[in-house]
Order: sequence, then C-alpha cells, then structure tokens
Amino acid sequence: MQHLKEEIRRLCSEKNAVIMAHYYTDGEIQDVADFVGDSLALAQKAATTQADIIVMCGVHFMGETIKILCPERKVLVPDMAATCSLAESCPAEEFTSFVKEHPGHTVISYVNTTAATKAVTDIVVTSSNACQIVESLPKDTPIIFGPDRNLGGYINSITGRNMLLWNGACHVHEQFSAEKIIELKKQHPGAKVLVHPECKNTVAALADKIGSTAALLKYSINDPAEVFIVATESGILHEMQKACPKKKFIPAPPSDSTCACNECSYMKLVTMQKLYDCLLNETPEIYVDPAVAEKAIRPINRMLDISEKLGL
Ligand code: 13P
Ligand code: SF4
Repeated sequence: MQHLKEEIRRLCSEKNAVIMAHYYTDGEIQDVADFVGDSLALAQKAATTQADIIVMCGVHFMGETIKILCPERKVLVPDMAATCSLAESCPAEEFTSFVKEHPGHTVISYVNTTAATKAVTDIVVTSSNACQIVESLPKDTPIIFGPDRNLGGYINSITGRNMLLWNGACHVHEQFSAEKIIELKKQHPGAKVLVHPECKNTVAALADKIGSTAALLKYSINDPAEVFIVATESGILHEMQKACPKKKFIPAPPSDSTCACNECSYMKLVTMQKLYDCLLNETPEIYVDPAVAEKAIRPINRMLDISEKLGL
C-alpha cells in the first residue's frame, strides 16, 4: 500500500494533478488526498485550484460540480459507477415537470443532484449552508426544495418556512435506526449523538448536534464529551479519530442488518488501485454537456457567492 501511495503522489507531481476526497471515502484515500472536505468545501476549493488535473474521489455529482466550475481542467473520477441514490431519486425530466406544475417558486436544489437537475435550479445548497441560504431569502418567498425530503423537512423546521419538498432520500441516511441509537445511549450514558440532516426526523430528534460532515467533525473536536455516536456515513470517523485520538467514536448502526456501521457503497467504490490507474491513464474523465453546464453553473455560483457573503 505504501508503494501505491508513493506512486500516486509521484503521478500527482509529474502531472500537476490534485486529489480531492470526500469524508465518506476510505481512510487511505483521505490520507493520500491533497484536500479532504465536505461537499461545500470541495466545491469552494475546486473553484480556486490551479492544477491541470483534478481527481475527485467521491461520487459522480461531485466530479460534475467540479467540471462545471473548472471547464478547462481535466476532471477525473476513479470509478464512474460511483453514483448517488439521492441524486438518482430526482431525475431531471421529472423534476422539471414538478417545477413547471408549481410556477412562481424559487427552486433550491441540494448539491447531491445531477448537472441536468441543477440546470433547472435557481440556487444550489449543501448541508453546510442550506439553512442560511434559505434564511437569506425574503420570508414570503415560495420555495421548491429537492431532492432530499429529510434535509428539506429539517430546513423547514429551523427556518419556519413551508418549502414544497421533492420526495427523495439517501439510502444510507434513511437506514439509521432510532431504536439502535437509544440502545447505544444506554450503554454509553455520556455519549453525544451527531446526526447528518439527511437522516429521518426520528433519528434527528435524538441529536445533540445536527450538521454537515464538516460541522459534525468540528463539533466533535470542540465538545468536551469523550464518546460520540455518529449517525452519518462511517468514513467520517477516520478524520474524527485522527483529530481526536483520545475520544471514542461509535458508528450508529443501520436498522436492517447485523452490521455495526453504515457505509455508502458508492463512495466505497473508490480504491487506491483505481485512483492510481485513473491518474496513470487519465480516465475515466467527467464530461458535462456545455449547454447543460452553462445553465447549471448559475445556481452553483449563486451558492458560492451567498456563502462568501455570509462567511460560510
Ligand atoms: P456533506 O454536505 O456533509 O458533504 O454531505 C454530502 C453527502 O453526500 C451526504 O450524504
Ligand atoms: Fe449519496 Fe447517500 Fe452516498 Fe451521500 S451517502 S453520496 S447522499 S448515496
């Protein structure tokens, strides 16, 4: 593995390439990356990189977002099959019809969408900035929010809005079991519960902190608790454990299996060997239809501009 890691780094310097990784990828991928972050941080970083090649270790929509922001760069993903159940729960054609059925609404889409869905969106958000961006709109703005019904419901509850929600969900976050978290709390009475807003409201109701992966990581670093039960994809535990070696992080289990943690099978398609091959052969490369990209960049830039103004 050390050899592969060295070869990956050598190819990066030879080709002026950078590796970006989401917190849900395997620990070894995060360790070899130039930059590890949540969806917002990855988009912000991509917008400023000078590298000729960007390898996005994450899922397909993340690569697309980077390609839209950096059309002149070569954007690679180690495995094209790394899609996202949430993005797939919102096909662009059906979402477009939904938008047309509800004229007069501002359309807000979670970044976990395809480029084609972003193209019919007014503002993109991530879980790091969604509440603040919705709050920044006048109170009486009618809003359509897609695709995640759990995140949308959470934003409604925080902002007091009544956004019209697309009925989509992430197959990983939907799986967390409130009962199993309650059980874990009994075994670890002082533990704090960290929950991603894509989880169901029965799970969110148990949270000491609800937030994006980056927000949960920050909370785990700053909070004095020694034990944390983490209800999001278990890849984040790698950074948490690295940042806080003396604290204990317990992955919250899914409801339907005997497995102790909950993994995104798409994120786990990214392996060191595929990353190496992808850098070596400069394939698979992300392609976004320029006509779609031209439309999709507007709501992404709107998100980046509002986030900058709000200091996010
Ligand atoms: P973040 O916005 O926390 O990076 O989450 C992205 C994601 O895919 C959650 O499932
Ligand atoms: Fe998509 Fe869910 Fe995987 Fe995140 S965890 S990338 S929302 S399938």
